[in-house]
Amino acid sequence: MTNTKSNNHPFLAACRREKTPYTPVWLMRQAGRYMKEYRELRARHGFLELCKNSDLAAEITVTPVERLGVDAAILFADILLLLEPLGVGLEYAKGDGPVIHQPVRSGKDVDGLKDFDPEKELSFVYDAVKKTCQALKNKVPLIGFAGAPFTLASYLIEGGGSRHYIHTKKLYYAAPQAWHRLMELLAALTAKYLNCQIAAGAQAVQIFDSWAGCLTPVDYEQFVLPHTRATIAGLTPGVPVIHFSTGTGGFLKLLRAAGGDVIGVDWRVHLDEAWERLGHDVAIQGNLDPGALLASPRDIRRRVEEILRRAGGRPGHIFNLGHGVLPETPVENVIAMVEAVHELSAR
Ligand code: CP3
Repeated sequence: MTNTKSNNHPFLAACRREKTPYTPVWLMRQAGRYMKEYRELRARHGFLELCKNSDLAAEITVTPVERLGVDAAILFADILLLLEPLGVGLEYAKGDGPVIHQPVRSGKDVDGLKDFDPEKELSFVYDAVKKTCQALKNKVPLIGFAGAPFTLASYLIEGGGSRHYIHTKKLYYAAPQAWHRLMELLAALTAKYLNCQIAAGAQAVQIFDSWAGCLTPVDYEQFVLPHTRATIAGLTPGVPVIHFSTGTGGFLKLLRAAGGDVIGVDWRVHLDEAWERLGHDVAIQGNLDPGALLASPRDIRRRVEEILRRAGGRPGHIFNLGHGVLPETPVENVIAMVEAVHELSAR
């Protein structure tokens, strides 16, 4: 669905908790391996190569918008791109997910990180933003994004994905000063990086704190919240900020306190209960289980209906999954989901 008035797109209106003719919907990882078009490009290019080629990145960003009929585009990039100029050796190893070859494990390692200017080092991202905006012709808004300081730190410290975040937790317990120095550095870099995406044309931004759910509320408050708050406080005013995390249903109030115009929630919590706890004076994004897209279109429609019922037609709901699209997802099911959201929420 399209709406050409620049600031009046249903997605942007919902971020501001204004009434919309239907509930806007987009999907995290809407550009990715579940799509034939992406797999074909990926067969010929490495992942980092695609991210650094602004023409291809723009093409990958726009393709799902046209295929799926979603209400927003999300830039094709990755949260870990910001870590590469720190000099830690980022690699997307075949089948293993991302790897950081020189992980940060001590205060000395933190001090050895290269400070850099995100405006200079990540210009390919802003080129992709500009090219995407040209290609979208303002039919739908473009969302820029970055990792939150905690999720970025977890990759830097663990050296990749993790199950128990042992090294991360060890660092904040054993060397809290080094931890806070690292988080301050990441918060400053992230705010600058997002502001450059905004200057290039991104009309909203999402901050991914995907792994914050491994924390206790007390540790979140002490070691993470001040830095996410500083990141969000450093962003260009007037551009909606979506603050997303997973597994954090037990401390939603703290996420809210860190900031964001929209709070993204996963499927482990009922949308109405989450909204109640957050307060209705903030917008909410979510929260279909990505696994539900492996069910039949009839079942998908039923799940969509349930989430819309829990949102209760209140302004300020953006429909999304609770986390990214799984690579095994049939594209027809995604299209069925988007259609169901638009049809069932039309008012
Ligand atoms: O949402 C979109 O369509 C935009 C693109 C996007 C990617 N990564 C592309 C990608 C976004 C928003 C991200 C965010 C991201 N990256 C997060 C936060 C969201 C989340 O999923 O929790 C995280 C933790 C990462 C780090 C990352 N990048 C991992 C763990 C992996 C490997 C696992 C996986 O899901 O593939 C990546 C690689 C990656 N990022 C791919 C894509 C399309 C797959 C790369 C490939 O083609 O092999």
